[in-house]
Amino acid sequence: MSETNLRVLISAEQIQTRIKELGEKITHDYPTGNLHIIGILKGAVFFMTDLVRAMNREVFMDFMGISTYGKGKTSSGEVRVTKDLDISLEGSDVLIVEDIVDSGVTLNYLMHVLDQRKPRSIRIAALLDKPERRLRPVHVSYVGFEIPDEFVVGYGLDYAEKYRNLKDICVLEEPVKPA
Ligand code: PRP
Repeated sequence: MSETNLRVLISAEQIQTRIKELGEKITHDYPTGNLHIIGILKGAVFFMTDLVRAMNREVFMDFMGISTYGKGKTSSGEVRVTKDLDISLEGSDVLIVEDIVDSGVTLNYLMHVLDQRKPRSIRIAALLDKPERRLRPVHVSYVGFEIPDEFVVGYGLDYAEKYRNLKDICVLEEPVKPA
């Protein structure tokens, strides 16, 4: 990928400023009760760890792995759980943390799965939202940034498992070929 260009779309500083705001809002919105933060592997890990540290309250942290087939190409993309939660959600407030909502197939499925576990409430926090790409309805309560339909990497997001550890969120651009 050495021929590929990276253009910064959202800087590390902008990301951290927005996460601080979201953390304060979430702290305010959940003054009491058990709050389960569920990170969806792998892309959400960076956002999740920064978001919980921007919150001034006790949280439980857990992770889920989701695999999708045909994602983004069709609204009938198949989704399955590859790593399930360790902790029961019954009676708790649940906050699903995602790096990006694209077609909405993953989160639409996950909301149905987790709703059956009798939580008190479920909401979604997503750092990035690409509303233009939506195929399935998803309500995102906490959005970091709405972005255009461009391929982004960094801060957890990958291309073929690369670039996750970039501090900024960047657009992956193909180089212009010389004539
Ligand atoms: C990404 C992202 C969401 C999903 C969103 O995960 O983290 O889980 O895609 O897409 P959707 O709205 O079209 O369903 P990905 O499958 O790339 O896995 P990763 O987080 O391990 O990179």
